[in-house]
Amino acid sequence: MACFFRRRVALQLAEVCGLSEDVFIPLISAVPVSKKQSAADLCVSVKRLLQNGAVAAGGDLQSKTQALANQMKRDAVVEEVSAGRGVILFRLNKLILAQKLLEQLRSEPDVFGVKSELLHHLQGGRTLVEFSSPNIAKKFHAGHLRSTIIGNFIANLKKALGKEVIRVNYLGDWGMQFGLLGAGFERFGSQEKLRTQPLEHLFEVYVQVNREAERDESVRSAAAEFFRRLEQNEDQALALWRQFREITVDEYKRIYQRLGVHFDHYSGEAFHHHQTQNVLDVLMSQGLLKTTEKGTAVVDLSEAGDMSSYATLVRSDGTSLYITRDVAAALDRKQRFGFDEMIYVTDKSQTVHFQQLFHILQTMGHQWTERCVHVAFGLVQGMSTRRGEVVFLEDVLEEARSRMLNNMRQSSSERKYFLITLLPVDIGDVQTVIVFYSVLMFIKCVCQDFRGPLMSDYKFDWDKVLQAHGDTGVFLQYTHARLCSLLRRHASETHSCCDVSPLVDSRSVSVLQHLLRYDEVLLQSANELQPRHLVIFLMTLSHLAASAHRELPVKGSSAAVAQARLCLFSAVRSVLANGMRILGITPVEKM
Ligand code: ARG
Repeated sequence: MACFFRRRVALQLAEVCGLSEDVFIPLISAVPVSKKQSAADLCVSVKRLLQNGAVAAGGDLQSKTQALANQMKRDAVVEEVSAGRGVILFRLNKLILAQKLLEQLRSEPDVFGVKSELLHHLQGGRTLVEFSSPNIAKKFHAGHLRSTIIGNFIANLKKALGKEVIRVNYLGDWGMQFGLLGAGFERFGSQEKLRTQPLEHLFEVYVQVNREAERDESVRSAAAEFFRRLEQNEDQALALWRQFREITVDEYKRIYQRLGVHFDHYSGEAFHHHQTQNVLDVLMSQGLLKTTEKGTAVVDLSEAGDMSSYATLVRSDGTSLYITRDVAAALDRKQRFGFDEMIYVTDKSQTVHFQQLFHILQTMGHQWTERCVHVAFGLVQGMSTRRGEVVFLEDVLEEARSRMLNNMRQSSSERKYFLITLLPVDIGDVQTVIVFYSVLMFIKCVCQDFRGPLMSDYKFDWDKVLQAHGDTGVFLQYTHARLCSLLRRHASETHSCCDVSPLVDSRSVSVLQHLLRYDEVLLQSANELQPRHLVIFLMTLSHLAASAHRELPVKGSSAAVAQARLCLFSAVRSVLANGMRILGITPVEKM
């Protein structure tokens, strides 16, 4: 509905500047509530008008701003136009603002914001998001957890914007480590343990065999032999490998479910390993693959063609590498899924890898590589549990659970009291489990992570993560649950249409003005593929809702006032819930 108002302002601008209205739509933005000195709702920067050729260059910016503001017409919707510092400010009729916003939120709560004109160019098409992608028998480290949360957010956001989304988990399920693992398992593996504690057992075997391989040549050659058997598709070796993979995938599926994350495809390096020869043949026929003196095969990535930068695709022993399999995987995905864009989410240590990957694909003549993106994020330091360094995702979940229980036991606040009563040591209640896991999903999103740029590293701190006060996931849940409870209590008084005239007080207006920004926030999040814009928006919305809840009572107010306020609270609840779902948090109705 923000578009309705943007259109009205665009109309005024078009008349004065003599260009089509559409030019102005993306240039108009809602004034953030925190920055409001005036009662303006929308604004347009004169610098941006200049950049877009809507006004002629030259002259003093401020007098230009003033002159433009003076020329604009006022009408029933745009009540006042004034000049700020380099911006033209538009004040909307507050009753119409309330009416339009609440009307839309009542009739189509789920599409609010996402169907905005501002986002039209982002709608439609198919997006492949590859995220999480842990390695079999190795640690599921903090980077994998971060990739899971960020990738899930990106997939949810794209979906909300109307794209067809394919979620892919690309497992590290091939390579020399499987030679070691296979040889190790043949020595000290246990089928029994593999069934009961698959991830732990595989890791244990892997660590042990690595240790032995360091000092024992025979272990090394057994590993090389096992890997050779794998590469030659030998039945017995493959059966064991398949068992490791299947068991691992089943375990991960169970854990992802706890987090509310799902994948459409579990692919992996092994699957594409068989396609690497094909890729090499193509590269060869294109004259792009060069054999070096060392016997490796490389692709020259330098501008000057002097091999000052290159990628190795074949080792001297003839085996393929991580990047070779990635080239094969990208080509295969393009063919199978026909995606319009592909997004990879990993920590920034793989930035060069993806640059090289895209470069190779580009050199092979695949134009669509322009629509491939690597979303990189910084490293997480110091994420450990009481048992030591984090090895398994499940350890993090358990640690969070026990710390949260502990926190809550020690707290006296009413809110935490509620939580304690709901959270027995053995979690049974489904709602509680959801609260807990959505907090966990939000672990790094809010406290330390999602508020800042993804690229910065940060130090993990359990205490900050799990605190229930301040800007945390718990706060969003709490606000949502309170709004639900208010709406439940007054269910009989909530009617479908309402008179918005009681909503002109400053609290209500702030909430409405903030809702006006939602589509812009989604646009920013989608452009940058960064969750922080949405996180900050939802936090502010929760704060505004909390003070509105405090100061705008429903109980004891006249029927008309109560009705209007319930309408407002219901609107806030919808937007909060929609935004939380995009972040990957399931909103709870009770706490
Ligand atoms: N398994 C890899 C790792 O843990 C991440 C895979 C990233 N995706 C890719 N297509 N290379 O480091």
